[in-house]
Amino acid sequence: MTPAPNAPIAPIAPMAPIAPLALNARNLRKIYKRGAEEIVAVDDVSLTIPKGEFVSFIGPSGSGKTTLINILGCLDNATSGSLEIGGRTVFSAKKCLSESDLTKIRRQVFGYIFQKFYLVPTLTVYENVILPFAFFKKPEAEADPMGILKFLGLDKRIDHRPSELSGGEMQRVAIARALINKPEILLADEPTGNLDTKRSGEIGEILKNLNEKEGLTVLLVTHNPSLAKIAHRTISLIDGRIAG
Ligand SMILES: Nc1ncnc2c1ncn2[C@@H]1O[C@H](COP(=O)(O)OP(=O)(O)O)[C@@H](O)[C@H]1O
Ligand SMILES: [Mg+2]
Repeated sequence: MTPAPNAPIAPIAPMAPIAPLALNARNLRKIYKRGAEEIVAVDDVSLTIPKGEFVSFIGPSGSGKTTLINILGCLDNATSGSLEIGGRTVFSAKKCLSESDLTKIRRQVFGYIFQKFYLVPTLTVYENVILPFAFFKKPEAEADPMGILKFLGLDKRIDHRPSELSGGEMQRVAIARALINKPEILLADEPTGNLDTKRSGEIGEILKNLNEKEGLTVLLVTHNPSLAKIAHRTISLIDGRIAG
């Protein structure tokens, strides 16, 4: 049907704003070779994570959570597929960033938290937190380590060694260290795996606060369904694939 000659032009509906993306992964696969055996640890995973989202990953042991999150966090390479971070291609069939560019992304974009706290036992809390500067050569004053330690309730503990801390405190020191470079994306792989329920809840609250108040994008791998629930979205992995 052709419109009448002087018919008013229908207004174009405004487009919904496009949320900036933190991560865009397409068809990720990771195959490990053990002798003649091939293990497909991540099997055709595509996912898009907008900036500021809190996503949790759950799934049985061996379902590929660590492998996937390590690929997303540029700590491991995929066998195939593509990954963009903040609109920049990290790898695809056509290109792959150089090792020095990958190192920059690891330092500037990501903060990493693991089940094991990886604190240096001979250093104090404060020294552990500013340890990244030993490698990154970033001015310490810019980073406000005391502000971060205070936010995490560790300001009275700065001169303690890790052996004098509880598990929950040790993980908070590891979180402080992960925050020191002002990351945009926080990756936490089973951060409460070594903690009791109460301490796990506290770590969950901290991650939630960092997401809501500081705008950090958070990717949390956990076995704990009640912890997974604090995220905006939960992705279940089974045999390396996104379930459902
Ligand atoms: N370095 C490796 N070499 C060979 N197989 C591996 C390696 N890392 C993980 N896998 C295998 O890949 C699968 C997924 O492992 P992983 O990502 O650690 O799972 P999850 O974190 O969910 O427990 C498992 O079958 C595991 O045995
Ligand atoms: Mg794992």
